[in-house]
Formats: sequence, structure tokens, C-alpha cells
Amino acid sequence: MEIKVLLIGTDEQVQNMSRVVKSSDISIVGTVKNEAMVLDEIGRKLPDIVMICYEMGSMVIRICQQIYLLRPRSVIVLLTDNLTPEILQKSIQAGVHYFLPYTSTSDKIVPQIKAVHTKESTRLLAMENTSNVARKSCVIMVLGTKGGIGKTTFAVNLAIKLTKLKCKVALLDFDMQFGDASTYLGIESKDTLAELLQEQAYPTIDIIRKYITMHKSGVNLLCAPGSPEFADGISAPQIDKVISTLRTYYDYIILDTTSSFNEINLTCIDVSNIIMFVSGVDISSLKNTKKGLSLLESLQAKEKVKIIINKEAQLGINIADIEKTLGYPVFFSIPYDFKISMTALNKGVPFAMEYSSNPLNKGYEMLASTIDGKSYDKTSESNTKLKFLDNIKNIWRRK
Ligand SMILES: Nc1ncnc2c1ncn2[C@@H]1O[C@H](COP(=O)(O)OP(=O)(O)O)[C@@H](O)[C@H]1O
Ligand SMILES: [Mg+2]
Repeated sequence: MEIKVLLIGTDEQVQNMSRVVKSSDISIVGTVKNEAMVLDEIGRKLPDIVMICYEMGSMVIRICQQIYLLRPRSVIVLLTDNLTPEILQKSIQAGVHYFLPYTSTSDKIVPQIKAVHTKESTRLLAMENTSNVARKSCVIMVLGTKGGIGKTTFAVNLAIKLTKLKCKVALLDFDMQFGDASTYLGIESKDTLAELLQEQAYPTIDIIRKYITMHKSGVNLLCAPGSPEFADGISAPQIDKVISTLRTYYDYIILDTTSSFNEINLTCIDVSNIIMFVSGVDISSLKNTKKGLSLLESLQAKEKVKIIINKEAQLGINIADIEKTLGYPVFFSIPYDFKISMTALNKGVPFAMEYSSNPLNKGYEMLASTIDGKSYDKTSESNTKLKFLDNIKNIWRRK
């Protein structure tokens, strides 16, 4: 099989690299010297291997990190004649696993490129075919029975706190009509789910990746359609396909959704490992949450549910009363803080980006580390994770 290789470096570096990778089994599908072009070019040419010259400049580590996160099917091979422990450490952290000398000959480099390709194709195939590995990714659905209850705020800030724990996180905005996760993240949403599904109705990972925007926190966002009329053609099986395709690549996939039990949300309920059911403290919210819980019970999904009380204010309603009303335990309670929430939204900078010690920020920090707790085996069945969550429920509450 022909190995597709993309070369990144200055004109001279690219020329040198193309001389040494000459082989009938290797095809050079493109060359890039401009950092801004790298992801697009990989998206278009879909190379198996990206060879990049370390001496190209200070942007190399950044480029490698972007390829590793956003174009994970292309394997990075870093070429350098000066592999110091410092370069090695920085590169490994950026996702580089293969290193070759820059000054070398075809007879030495070509067999190594072939060996890298064989190893990586076997690994990718195993990842896509092994259901055990697919389960590694934990899908968290954020659900709620009302608009304005705080679902998007919750989804965005939890996603950011999980990336701070070095998890790979995808945030999928499935509020098809009025999705605004991009506004919360200060991202301009031009490549959205609507354009993705227009390009390919049941998209592969390579196509999905082209439509994912990376937020500076590291969260990978798939934006909701830009306008409500684009939502119509999107079907539940397509959403199922997008989630299942991404499962191999992320530690957490967070689904922001609408307050409805439509077909798309039913699919999300079905494939999720955890359903974060956001509720307010007012009687109307609690009544609707109770109805939602009974529906989730009939869908046999109640054991995945974690109740999140958002905008908890000191109004004389305590958690025990809420639990009594719902007939279900509260997992986490988040305080009401108008100023912090509103400022973050208006600036397009989620409060979870900061290291501040305010209760809202600290609460999300604790929630993320609770979910990503170190006392369970990440690769094991998601049920283990759920049991773990049960044991530590209500760990953080406003005093
Ligand atoms: N804990 C909180 N304290 C105060 N305001 C909040 C809190 N959580 C969310 N909000 C605010 O509530 C409004 C609606 O939140 P949003 O996350 O968009 O809700 P939904 O996605 O459920 O429609 C936003 O203005 C947001 O800033
Ligand atoms: Mg929302």
C-alpha cells in the first residue's frame, strides 16, 4: 500500500526531506511551509505521515500539538540532528512519538517510515474496531427541562475544567436551533454541524475533524447550526454516527442539548454514560425535573442521571427538601452568581478559564476532578465510573 506523506519545513528543508523519502511505496502528497496552512492541508490531503523538520522554527511544537489534537490520524515524525532531552520532552508532550535524523539517506529513512506506518495503521485499526477501547471515552449529556436554566454554562465550564486536568474533551453543541456554546467560548461559528452534515451525511472522522474548532483552553468544539432553519434536515442516526465516530479520540465528549425529549435527545440519552440533569430551585423547575426523571426511568436511563442544581441561592430551600421533592439524590449544587456568569458570557471568556477562588469557579474545578477522579481505572467499563460517582455524590455544596 502506498504511504501518503506530507512534508513541513522551509523550502530547503522540504527539498532535502523529499530527496530522502524517495521510494515507490511512498507518495509525497504535499509540502507546507506556512503554519496557518498546516491543518487545512492535512484535512485536504489526508496524509498517513507528516514529516516536520524541528529546525524550521519556534512554531514547530505548536504545529505538532495541533496536528496531534485535531488531525490525529496523521502520524507526526519529527526530523532533527540535535535531539536533546529538552527537545525530546517538549515534543513528546506535544504528541510526537517518532524521531528520525534530518541528515540521513534514503536507505536508512525509508524502512523506518514504513515501520512507523505499519505500526500506526495497526493501532488505528484496533482503536476503531475494538469496542472496549471505544468505551474509553465517556459521553456526558447535559440535559434540562427549561431554556435559561444553565445547561450551556454548565457544559462549557465543565469542558474547560476537564481540559485543565489534561483530558481530551470534545464539546458538541446539539442545541440545533439556538445553540450558543460558541458565544460562551468567544468563537465565531462558521464551520458548523450543518455544513458538516451537508458535506457528508454520515461523516468519517477525517471530515468531522475539518469542522471542529479548537478553543484556546484545548476544548474541541463542534458548533451548532448557524441558523434555526438548518436544523431541520439533521437526523438522530446522523447524530449517533458523529458521537460514535468521535468516541475513539476523546476522553470526554460533552453534549449540550435543548430542553426537549425529541429524537435527537433520545439518541443522546441512549449513548451517554452520564446524564447531567440541570435543574433550578424554583418549584416549576423541580416539577418539570421530576417529570423528566420519570420519563428517563421509563427509558431505563435513570441510573445514568446526576441531578445538578444550578443557581442555588440562599432562599430557605435546602438540598434535603429538593431531594425529597424529586425523590432522587442531588449530585452537585452550583451557587447563583449573576455577576460572574454574566461577565463571562458577555466577554466570551468562560469563568472556568480563570484560576480564581470564587465558589462558582471552585465548584466546577471540584466537579471536574470528581468526574475525572483518579481512584478509578479510566480504561475500564463506564459503569465503574458511575459507581465511583455514586460514592462521592454531594461532595461539594455551598455551605
Ligand atoms: N450559576 C449561575 N449563576 C447565575 N447565572 C447563571 C448561572 N448559570 C447560568 N447562568 C446564566 O443563566 C443564563 C442562561 O444560561 P444558559 O447556560 O445559556 O442556559 P441554557 O443553556 O439552559 O438555556 C445565562 O445568562 C447565564 O449566564
Ligand atoms: Mg443552551
